[in-house]
Amino acid sequence: MLQVSNLVVRYPKAKELAVDRLSLRINKGEFVCILGKSGAGKSTFIRCLNRLQQPSSGSIRLDGVELTTLREGKMRQVRSDMVMIFQHFNLIPRMSVFQNILTGSFGNRPAYKNLLGLFSVLEKEKAYEALKQVDLLAHANKRVEALSGGQKQRVGIARALLQEPKMLLGDEPVASLDPSTSRKIFELLKSIHEQRRLVTIVNVHDVGLAKEFATRIVAFREGKIVFDDTPDRLTDEIFAKIYG
Ligand SMILES: Nc1ncnc2c1ncn2[C@@H]1O[C@H](COP(=O)(O)OP(=O)(O)O)[C@@H](O)[C@H]1O
Ligand SMILES: [Mg+2]
Repeated sequence: MLQVSNLVVRYPKAKELAVDRLSLRINKGEFVCILGKSGAGKSTFIRCLNRLQQPSSGSIRLDGVELTTLREGKMRQVRSDMVMIFQHFNLIPRMSVFQNILTGSFGNRPAYKNLLGLFSVLEKEKAYEALKQVDLLAHANKRVEALSGGQKQRVGIARALLQEPKMLLGDEPVASLDPSTSRKIFELLKSIHEQRRLVTIVNVHDVGLAKEFATRIVAFREGKIVFDDTPDRLTDEIFAKIYG
């Protein structure tokens, strides 16, 4: 479903390529964790997928549609098929949990409705369902700024679900959370992956989480893939190659 070919990202003035002729195919049903040292190109790669980052060259095809040359209008549509959750959540702190989740439907509606805060019953029902799925019903009316980190990321996930995506992307979504909260977030991502048949691609720092939850691990080093296989194949030797 997702075919990346010869992807290159060169930042202005950088000596090395951030992503170096990278090719990768990701299929339905996969839960991919991307590993690699800081600076390996994980964020750059994942941001290219929904074009928060424009690649220098190469191709990204989603169900046969070339994304790298799509115009902004069409790209917005694609972005709701592949939504992103972030390390710092990217929520609106002073708004309620429920309001934040409703903003997930912004991409799919006319701007004036957003300005006026007009949401249909259907949108509210979807938000309610998402809220239930991430187990935050009891906190629906709280301001986001009053929540714990783990709860904030649950809001981020619920907001993403409101777009009814085909693919969920995560750029270090648990990097600001403690280990036990991180694990719970991964459990939630896995259950959503299974229930909604969402392709999931997440950058993660914690190898243990990747090994436990991924169906496939892809490791980057200096913008290139140095490992791409099932978690059980990630030996100590390969681990050293990734991080050494
Ligand atoms: N906006 C930017 N401008 C210039 N260089 C960047 C920028 N963002 C990242 N880089 C560089 O690109 C490389 C890959 O970075 P990044 O994708 O953030 O890696 P990771 O997410 O694996 O830590 C690094 O060498 C980093 O310094
Ligand atoms: Mg990063």
